[in-house]
Amino acid sequence: MEKKLSQEYDFEKHWNNAYQKTTAENLGWYEEDPIPSMDLITACNLPKDALIFNAGVGAATLIELLLNKGYTKIVVNDIAETALDELKNNLPISKKSQVQFIVDDLTNPTELLKLNNIDLWHDRAVLHFFTTQQQQQTYFDLIKKNISPEGYVILAEFNIEGAKKCSGLDVFNYNEEMLQERLGSDFKLLKSFNYTYTQPSGNKREYVYTLFQKKA
Ligand SMILES: C[S@@+](CC[C@H](N)C(=O)[O-])C[C@H]1O[C@@H](n2cnc3c(N)ncnc32)[C@H](O)[C@@H]1O
Repeated sequence: MEKKLSQEYDFEKHWNNAYQKTTAENLGWYEEDPIPSMDLITACNLPKDALIFNAGVGAATLIELLLNKGYTKIVVNDIAETALDELKNNLPISKKSQVQFIVDDLTNPTELLKLNNIDLWHDRAVLHFFTTQQQQQTYFDLIKKNISPEGYVILAEFNIEGAKKCSGLDVFNYNEEMLQERLGSDFKLLKSFNYTYTQPSGNKREYVYTLFQKKA
């Protein structure tokens, strides 16, 4: 019954509303300086023309920071077109052409199935919203289909001790063993750490950050 209800819920509307109601800097997941993500991305030591994919990017500041660091091939996705419009509007005009914007549902993908050879998959606070086995399976299948041999995967989700809800939605909490199990033995865990994020409201959210590499 729970599964049926969750599949019927209009997530696209939910997330578009979230971005329409609140400016990016006041959202509960806003990060002015995404230090843990940037540290892991830097550790990958990728060439500047590596294909970087950000799943459920929202209006994240990470994208402008990556452009400023010289990365030239960035693909961003979100289910909410409003979020991608906000992100696009905030980018410097000269750099917009280095970013491809894809509105699509990670749990029911169409456009995202056309991607391949991704060198780095980055997800902060997205996978944990996928609470059914089917949504999770589709998401992990998409990673496995799209990532290059020796490509990297960063997954940063609410950890086991972390919050059970975000944006009014239930979440599914993770630790690094669970993420390893879902990615499978073709992926090697390179780094993981717990991280406490402070929301604009001052409340704390407990994350687990993981960096995996696909075997050659
Ligand atoms: C908590 S926000 C995190 C945004 C961004 N990753 C960040 O760290 O600032 C979750 C994001 O996932 C997006 N999202 C939720 N479900 C999605 C889905 N099924 N497919 C694609 N994006 C989704 C939402 O629209 C929202 O932008």
